[in-house]
Amino acid sequence: MEPILVKDLVDYNLKVLVTGGSGQIGSEIKNLNKNLSFNFHFPESNELNLLDLDSISSYLNNNNFDLIINLAAFTAVDSAEENKKNANIVNHLAAGIIASEARKREIGLIHGSTDYVFGNTGGPYGAYDKKEPINYYGTTKSLGEDSVLNEYEKSIVIRFASVFSEYGNNFIKRILKSLIKEEIVKVVSDQKISLTYAGDFSKNIIEIINFYNNLEFDVNKNNRIFHLTCREYTNWFSVAEIIYDEANKVENGLLRSKLLPISSKDWKSVAQRSQDTRLELNDNFINESKINLSQWEKSVRLVVKRVLPVILKEVENEK
Ligand SMILES: NC(=O)c1ccc[n+]([C@@H]2O[C@H](COP(=O)([O-])OP(=O)(O)OC[C@H]3O[C@@H](n4cnc5c(N)ncnc54)[C@H](OP(=O)(O)O)[C@@H]3O)[C@@H](O)[C@H]2O)c1
Repeated sequence: MEPILVKDLVDYNLKVLVTGGSGQIGSEIKNLNKNLSFNFHFPESNELNLLDLDSISSYLNNNNFDLIINLAAFTAVDSAEENKKNANIVNHLAAGIIASEARKREIGLIHGSTDYVFGNTGGPYGAYDKKEPINYYGTTKSLGEDSVLNEYEKSIVIRFASVFSEYGNNFIKRILKSLIKEEIVKVVSDQKISLTYAGDFSKNIIEIINFYNNLEFDVNKNNRIFHLTCREYTNWFSVAEIIYDEANKVENGLLRSKLLPISSKDWKSVAQRSQDTRLELNDNFINESKINLSQWEKSVRLVVKRVLPVILKEVENEK
């Protein structure tokens, strides 16, 4: 099949449902939508609440979508341990129902997932490595992937890792605030991670939809999982060092706090975290699709520049 061009997608007036439109990745797509005449739909949770499983089918009946990009998720990793029921409904059961509804309607499905489906033995993990989640969030996302892939042979899963952007709540904003407010900021340095810049998904949305449209699907689910992360691996302490450096470049001498590396043993959290959830990029996905991925440091610096004025205002208002 010939690749579909941007013009074709616009001419087709492709109607795309994006769940999780208020999330980090969804917000980046929304932002992009202002410049593209794609027909993206971002329902609010009062229009489509995935906790209400029965409402999914009726919502889809009332709207003729050509493609679903399912980015809605219960992403609060610690809360998932305490609110297992809701985490399982959104990340697992709703994902399966969306896939089965997409199959009935023969429409496209791109489902978002996470590096947290891995974690026990150590990465970098290939897309088809054995899954081994070590917390409840990871478990529900892993079950969600299985349901999506089993329910619908024309679905794909795209895994992200530690998503950051100028939207929503993320590590960059939290660290930046701590660096402005506190004298000593301790950050874990011994966990190996991949990062995903949410803008890397939205900027490549046409390439991703093209790649999806040109996939040759077969019953073998082993060509339907893809990893989308920034270039190069890192750890949280190195990310914090870049945040520190960039903030001081933008606002000369703003930060005087001390940044200290600590061991993950000294960082307590409700959910267990892995020492290594690095994701390997799939060659075919990245090369065949012509997706352009950023290097993590460059995107972290970009996001720091964009969020710093807002964080400074927030800190000022808290005084
Ligand atoms: N955030 C990360 O660090 C991370 C890391 C790896 C993978 N991922 C995966 O990447 C994808 C996108 O994540 P993200 O970071 O963009 O998400 P996010 O910023 O945490 O936002 C989650 C989104 O899901 C929506 N949502 C939650 N419960 C819902 C419900 N019951 N019904 C409808 N919508 C609901 C939220 O809507 P409301 O705001 O209305 O609640 C929000 O739009 C997800 O598949 C996630 O698992 C995320």
